[in-house]
Amino acid sequence: MFSALVILCSASLALAVLGPISTDAPAPAGGSIANNQPPLASFWAGHSPPYPTDDWWVGYGAGSGNAVSAGPFPYESNLAASSIQFGISSSRQFDGTSIKQPTQTDWSVGFSEHSGNFADHHAVQWDTQSVQVEYVTGASSMIGYMVPGSPYLTFNFASSTPLLTSGQGAITSFGGTAVTSGGAAVSSTGTRFTVVNSIGTYVIYSLSGAITLSAQATAAASTVKASKAFTGVLRVVKLNSTSHAALLDQYVATYPTSVTTDYTFAGNSADLIFTWGVVGTASNLLMLTWPHHRIKMVSPNFPATTALNYLTTKGYMYPALGNVWTLAYSLPTITWNAPRAPDSSCTSAIVQGLKYEIAKLSASAPSIPGDFYYWGGAIAAQGRLALIAEHLGQTSLISEVTGYLEASYAYWFQSSSATLPAYETSWGGIINKGGATDVNVDFGNGAYNDHHFHYGYFLTGAAIIAKYDSAWLAAHKTYVNYFLRDIANPSRSDPYFPVTRHRDWFAGHSWASGVANGAGSRDEESTGEGNNGYYGALLWANVTGNTDMYNYARLLLATEQHATQIYWHLYPEQSSTDRDQPYPEPAVRALITIGNVEDWQSGAWLFWGAEKVEIAAIQMLPVTPVNEYLYDSAWVNNVFNYAQNELTDPTIDDEWKCVIYDAYSQYNPQAAATLSTGLSDWGTGNTYTNTLYFIATRPNTGGPICSTTNANPVGTFAISTTAGQYVVSTAASENLIASGTAATATKFSFAWQPNSGTIQNTVTSQFVTADQSGIDALASARAVASTWETFTIRQKVGAATGVYSIKANANGLYVILGAGNALINGATTEAGSTGFRIQ
Ligand SMILES: *[C@@H]1O[C@H](CO)[C@@H](O)[C@H](O)[C@H]1NC(C)=O
Ligand SMILES: *[C@@H]1O[C@H](CO)[C@@H](O)[C@H](O)[C@H]1NC(C)=O
Repeated sequence: MFSALVILCSASLALAVLGPISTDAPAPAGGSIANNQPPLASFWAGHSPPYPTDDWWVGYGAGSGNAVSAGPFPYESNLAASSIQFGISSSRQFDGTSIKQPTQTDWSVGFSEHSGNFADHHAVQWDTQSVQVEYVTGASSMIGYMVPGSPYLTFNFASSTPLLTSGQGAITSFGGTAVTSGGAAVSSTGTRFTVVNSIGTYVIYSLSGAITLSAQATAAASTVKASKAFTGVLRVVKLNSTSHAALLDQYVATYPTSVTTDYTFAGNSADLIFTWGVVGTASNLLMLTWPHHRIKMVSPNFPATTALNYLTTKGYMYPALGNVWTLAYSLPTITWNAPRAPDSSCTSAIVQGLKYEIAKLSASAPSIPGDFYYWGGAIAAQGRLALIAEHLGQTSLISEVTGYLEASYAYWFQSSSATLPAYETSWGGIINKGGATDVNVDFGNGAYNDHHFHYGYFLTGAAIIAKYDSAWLAAHKTYVNYFLRDIANPSRSDPYFPVTRHRDWFAGHSWASGVANGAGSRDEESTGEGNNGYYGALLWANVTGNTDMYNYARLLLATEQHATQIYWHLYPEQSSTDRDQPYPEPAVRALITIGNVEDWQSGAWLFWGAEKVEIAAIQMLPVTPVNEYLYDSAWVNNVFNYAQNELTDPTIDDEWKCVIYDAYSQYNPQAAATLSTGLSDWGTGNTYTNTLYFIATRPNTGGPICSTTNANPVGTFAISTTAGQYVVSTAASENLIASGTAATATKFSFAWQPNSGTIQNTVTSQFVTADQSGIDALASARAVASTWETFTIRQKVGAATGVYSIKANANGLYVILGAGNALINGATTEAGSTGFRIQ
């Protein structure tokens, strides 16, 4: 009994990276193709695909292989022809929008026997965090262990003469002795040397006994060179303060060579475990932490923060001892729908929206995929209608949605389709075939940009179909799994895909950047969609009954959401000296949301938009139930207040506002519900129904969520002013003029649309249209109602009951009487509008 219990416990907690989802050769309808951004053959010599495409160090092996790469932090580095170059940015600037720490080369480390041929270095091995790079010429070699979080860079020499070259001016001091430019070399023998150039002090340690090094500053170069060939380990570290020397000296003897990233699951908790492979005493491994590590580490062994620190784009790195870090996370338990029923005050409006939006869907032809990104965003939003229908007991509507989705997905399985996935053979992955040779297709999908954004949507839509159609699931499971394997493969044993393509496990989040543009700087500017990538994986794993993958996706999502909150959400109320917040500058935190986190800068900007609502909304969308964890009250409230001027500006698109209101509902659902009744556009990635459903399902103790009436009058009516002037519009004179009597009034048919409606002339059957200028009269002049033919008609505030304001959604302005009593959409405020009776 006792021993059985022990075995059960140890089995459930055993470290074991998950096995592959599948090892089958992908056979998508687009076949196989190689992209035009191939891996650098010399760097990958001796290896075969799949290769990492979005890791911090992909610049070593993509393009020409010399791009500055996003680590190993606190350093950034690049591979030169005969040396590894690195530095810690010594310039941190805030320009009002971004904090920047431009990369720099402090030192290069190589050996004097190296040929100087760029092809004479290659990857030895890599794991999910680190890579070993070897420079070799004849019998002489040097391996660099490029391990994120190590304060020291570590170089293992074999029969080679170490050569360090200053990247920051002349060496001025070596081993405490002044070095004169153009003067004699200064030599020193020992195991610890300080060397100073214009950027400050580095310490060079030998772990392999005394070595003789000599420093010389000539006009051509400043170098530190060994007296003869050396076999052993040197470590090099930036000493930014003399007060850091004690800790660095104490722990230099143990160095990391690799990392295992593992995890354990227990119910709705998971431990993420980093175990560094070390040479030396494991408990004496000195590493550096970022804020997201410190918050989640279990039983950490932290030396004083004053003992060692480096300020980076993710805030201060502080020391931790030991070769195992355990980071504890709560896993999301929300899957398809919100964990509570919609507030009863909102249900009738949600059901009305469901029926309207699903009827429009089933009346239209299937969406023919023209790309991955926009198609996916729309299909996932439409799929949510089926899930919401289920939650509201409107089960008869579900098949209308899934039928539409299935007809659209069918194109992905037919080789005759214009847009198709293909298996990309040079790196290993599923790409948009049309993007194999064109980075302008799908935002560089063919060069491995943005797959987590794109495939999260794809997986969500497929999971929704599969939830309701097991035959479809059985028929297409293998195929849809290609997309799961592309972004969430947990195992090196899948011979076709790298492990969790976008995730930087040390940085704690995903990078969207693939192998294009020489594969330099990394960025992530759409955390909402990055998170959604792992949500899509979670749903697909759940519906296919793959519990291991469901848990792995939950861990990916929990970690990604946490990093989003730490590095993208900004909190002016935090203290600048808080150990675990990344932006010490109050002016940075006042920006409320980071748009783009890159390796060397982070700022409130996007590649494509400058509005506050855009910068914030792209960190929030798509709006799904699992974002309950992401939309923390403090941040959504900050965003709401910060973006007020745009939220109240009628020229700013509702497709952004609806997302902001959804997130804000996590803080104040009643206010969000009222604000949402003013929306007339939800974009292609959201819907009226989903917006209201999300608001209606927020945790709430404040009474009914939906109170304001959000419907236009519906029926056939005449329109008149309060002075009894009736609106007339005829085939001969289409403009709406308040010139008639009750007897001569034109009758209009008012129909419902979400939050608004259409007005159709019953005599001419033409829909009333408003133009965007606010100068021309409304006119019964359109056979089909589109966005300019919708109006928001509400009880006018402050007027007698039954007196309405009419707002044209064409320009967000209210209708007034203009010259000749023509109805014109020209008033910016409701107070300035004309009151109408509709009866
Ligand atoms: C180095 O120290 C200076 C002075 O204290 C500080 O301003 C700078 O941020 C430090 N650099 C790093 C990378 O921590
Ligand atoms: C699917 O998700 C539900 C929670 O909605 C969970 O209880 C169940 O265990 C999951 N199943 C699998 C196979 O992941």
